[in-house]
Amino acid sequence: MNSMPLLEVRDLVKEFPTRAGESKRAVDGVSFSINRGETFGLVGESGSGKSTIGRCILRLIEATSGTTVIDGVDLSTLDRREMRQFRSRMQVVFQDPYTSLNRRHSVATLIAAPLRAHGIGNAKERRARVVELLELVQLPASFASRMPRELSGGQSQRVAIARALALNPEFVVLDEAVSALDMSVRAQILNLLGSLQRELGLTYLFISHDLSVVRYICHTVAVLRNGTVVEQASRDELFEHPRHPYTQQLLAAVPVPDPAVQRSRTKRFGTDLESTGEIPEF
Ligand SMILES: Nc1ncnc2c1ncn2[C@@H]1O[C@H](COP(=O)(O)OP(=O)(O)O)[C@@H](O)[C@H]1O
Ligand SMILES: [Mg+2]
Repeated sequence: MNSMPLLEVRDLVKEFPTRAGESKRAVDGVSFSINRGETFGLVGESGSGKSTIGRCILRLIEATSGTTVIDGVDLSTLDRREMRQFRSRMQVVFQDPYTSLNRRHSVATLIAAPLRAHGIGNAKERRARVVELLELVQLPASFASRMPRELSGGQSQRVAIARALALNPEFVVLDEAVSALDMSVRAQILNLLGSLQRELGLTYLFISHDLSVVRYICHTVAVLRNGTVVEQASRDELFEHPRHPYTQQLLAAVPVPDPAVQRSRTKRFGTDLESTGEIPEF
């Protein structure tokens, strides 16, 4: 087992030009590393810079400065062609499956898109891989011919996950991936993400504005405020002994204020996650 972190972000800075002709620092010197097979949570209010960090890591946008090293490779040293090859190792799932899935394509076409783009397999092999991927996200093979409009929110997100896994990535950015879903469906998708992680050895960057969700999936959590990490700790440490006043404030804003009630709720929710995970909503 390789004990080096899979991903290291160092001094990441991203400035956006403002209308006034100045620049605004959306990300202001962020550093963290993510161990292989683990989930790193990035939590903070809307506008704190979470998505910008995710997009810089994936090089969907270029950072102003800073480095991202994945598996020992400094991504800024890769040219376009090398980056294209490397990109298959890192994927992203966004919040809204309705806008991220092209409405005119069938589920099979959507899931096979990354395979076609990378010239992998012939049509028959790709069909077989689509069935395999549907099975992986616990959808019946018959879903291959469905259209996006025929899917529920949870099913759409399963399709988005299947597509993200098509090229066997090691690293997946989950940007508010469960935020648009109802409570019970959210629990199912979190459960699925957890079992996929164990099964495939995936490493996740889990982005969310919702601390209560982060708690159930992340090993380590960084709290982001105005583009800066104010506190980073293991999940248990962060939730049981938050150090920074801003973290304490965010935790206090989580719905149930009474710690005793919160603990019992945590237990119940934990059980729900276990018991509902096996029954995908059809
Ligand atoms: N393409 C862009 N151009 C200008 N400003 C941007 C752009 N993308 C994000 N921002 C700004 O950067 C800040 C962080 O945004 P974002 O990373 O989307 O936050 P979060 O995902 O935490 O809600 C916000 O102030 C946002 O308005
Ligand atoms: Mg965002």
